[in-house]
Amino acid sequence: MRYGYFDEAKKEYVITRPDTPAPWVNYLGSPEYGAIVSNNAGGYSFAKSGANGRILRYIFNQFDQPGRYIYLRDNESKDYWSASWQPVGKDLETYKSECHHGTAYTKMMADYSEIHSEVRYYVPLERSYEVWSLAVTNYSEKKRELTVTGYAEFTNNSNYEQDQVNLQYSQYITQTVFRGNRVRQMIHANLDRLEEGENIDNKNVFNRFFGLAGADVNSWCGDKESFLGRYHGYNNPEGVITGKLSNKGNYNENSCGALSTVLSLAPGETKEITFLVGMKGDAEAGEIVEHYKNCQDVCKKELEELIEYWHGQLSHFQIRTPSPEFNTMINTWNAYNCFMTFIWSRAASFTYCGLRNGYGYRDTVQDIQGVIHLAPEMAVEKIRFMLSAQVDNGGGLPLVKFTHNPGHEDTPDDASYVQETGHPAYRADDALWLFPTVYKYVSETGNVAFMDEVIPFANKGEATVYEHLKRAIAFSENHLGKHGMPAGLYADWNDCLRLGKDGESTFVALQYYYAMTILREFADYKEDKEYIEYLNESQKKLGKLIQDLCWNEDRFIRGFTEDGAVIGKRTDPEANMWLNPQSWAVISGLADDAQADLALDMVYKRLNTEYGAILMDPPYHAHAFEGALAVIYNAGTKENAGIFSQSQGWIILAEALRGHGERAFGYFMENAPAAQNDRAEIRRLEPYCYGQFTEGKASPNFGRSHVHWLTGTASTVMVGCVEGILGMRPDFGGLRIAPSVPKEWDKFEIDKDFRGCKLHITVHNPGHVESGFKKMIVNGEELGENYIPQEKLTEITEVELFMS
Ligand code: GLC
Repeated sequence: MRYGYFDEAKKEYVITRPDTPAPWVNYLGSPEYGAIVSNNAGGYSFAKSGANGRILRYIFNQFDQPGRYIYLRDNESKDYWSASWQPVGKDLETYKSECHHGTAYTKMMADYSEIHSEVRYYVPLERSYEVWSLAVTNYSEKKRELTVTGYAEFTNNSNYEQDQVNLQYSQYITQTVFRGNRVRQMIHANLDRLEEGENIDNKNVFNRFFGLAGADVNSWCGDKESFLGRYHGYNNPEGVITGKLSNKGNYNENSCGALSTVLSLAPGETKEITFLVGMKGDAEAGEIVEHYKNCQDVCKKELEELIEYWHGQLSHFQIRTPSPEFNTMINTWNAYNCFMTFIWSRAASFTYCGLRNGYGYRDTVQDIQGVIHLAPEMAVEKIRFMLSAQVDNGGGLPLVKFTHNPGHEDTPDDASYVQETGHPAYRADDALWLFPTVYKYVSETGNVAFMDEVIPFANKGEATVYEHLKRAIAFSENHLGKHGMPAGLYADWNDCLRLGKDGESTFVALQYYYAMTILREFADYKEDKEYIEYLNESQKKLGKLIQDLCWNEDRFIRGFTEDGAVIGKRTDPEANMWLNPQSWAVISGLADDAQADLALDMVYKRLNTEYGAILMDPPYHAHAFEGALAVIYNAGTKENAGIFSQSQGWIILAEALRGHGERAFGYFMENAPAAQNDRAEIRRLEPYCYGQFTEGKASPNFGRSHVHWLTGTASTVMVGCVEGILGMRPDFGGLRIAPSVPKEWDKFEIDKDFRGCKLHITVHNPGHVESGFKKMIVNGEELGENYIPQEKLTEITEVELFMS
């Protein structure tokens, strides 16, 4: 079943049926001001932190309420509805709506009783407040008088938990008053007489506002219960039913902002008004509302700017292939998803409430990879930040606080860090993610000088980027298990595998192996002979260990427990086949050709399903070892044999690196949101963004997906597609182009910005192969291989590649 379609030209997903199987949301804003809005206007806003800066309230896991509601009431018939289908929820026979989720804006259109409304929600570029711009048109043949009411439910405390659970406190610090055209909420208002800089118990006065521009306020309300009426809900607020709000503020209960205005519309007439929400002092709030006096022009311009900005970001890499699903994901939605995970990490969604008040090390370093081909300069800022969160022993801080202060942070070795973050120990993989990320950045930009940039460590001291990477190698070297492979520590990529300081992880061993290959390229460049020798020797030793210990006839095992038992061997009753060691054996370059093909075939046979490959099989139930935390999950769920979507990116990449275009693309299609637009009732999540996992075949809800938007899937699949399927493989000296595509693709095109040049690449595949190279012509000159050295790049570079 489908609920909408992709508008490729406008880069919008258009929801034509509002009764979607889950709230389908969009992200608005920036790290300064974040806003999440669903297709039924549910959602919340926050300044900087979802946990500590929550402005608009949202009740998780509770039918997508409340939200940014706009009610319309016909003052003659007294009938009322909302600009989004919910919360009033009129019969869909008579209420027609469309929701257009675009790049950082959401537009909702509704038609009911010959009134057309269009509301555009957005956060203007570089501003820290939100705009709900509304246009109402009268399509009937008579004059209509409508009362339009905007409703924003403020939290009583910027801290999300305090607002929800500590009512004996949070209700008694909040009050609202009316100021001409806006409701002003004050938290701790009674502290307004404190001298500047003087704080009682560190509490300041917080100001929020809900304003109206473009029309006069006819009535207002600042108290939730007074607005809704006792035993009423958001679907039938008394203030809306009666057409007049109570003109009462809140003092010691629940604050809200509700503003009503009366619009008279002649037949065919359109009127525009704008509601505004923010966390601002009274004077600034007044200025903001004033700024929207001519809201029609201001909002139009702001929206154009937003679209220009985002479409500009996406324009750096655009493709035209025979697959519309692939095109829409790579050109727009996967890319936008990558930007959102890049910005928000796992901070705030309808699943993450913002309590993870910082950046997960591995997640963030991986997320950066998803935007390198689009915005390398933005990426390098974050790379610097993450390098500054590396401890001088080479390990990464498992959680990097939003308040991160390089050079002065405590580490997992300090009780204070453990207490503050809840992370009791290092994880084995964190810093190893730096290798592919830094390599991809340097190769994309050619900025080899980055290696010499000096960056502080999290706790003390500083070093060049090159030295930071060496320390990451040293961290693994200093944390080996019983056989001499990297220890699993508190976790590897898989949070549900606690292998400890004596157990060992194949995944980390493969990452470590790969890290050495990457660092050798840096070392070669720096002519660091001694270190090259060290790397060669260590890598050889490690490679032999992995081969001797981890290859089990037709698969790589997952590792060893603390007491040396093998995890993931073919005769185990449960979890005898794991996905990631197979894909990473290929990505890392460790597997020989025969092993690679055998292991990938086994994945295809044993783990692949119509919705992607499951993480391992069979699920843990009766045979979980002590550190196999995945057993806490139902079979077929998350790390316990779920289709962990992030890992799909790596299997796509592995197959593509082997030249298996058919399989690589097959894996893409199985788990791609856009490819499931017609099965939305099964997948449930938005057909335009990735989720953390899809329930595997062991679940009765096989195919249902969860944990939308903020997931490592965005970046791994992006890399799997761009570097793998499309074959964009830059290195320090230029760009290799080695696509692995479905055989049926005859031809496809790529527009890629690369090192200040615009590349237009046309790939021809007349012989219908899935990979391979016949000839390449760059600006009319035939090159002997599928590699464009930097010197051959011109401002506009025309590339023709013949695969066959
Ligand atoms: C979640 C975590 C990520 C972890 C993955 C697998 O997505 O955010 O850090 O690697 O689960 O356990």
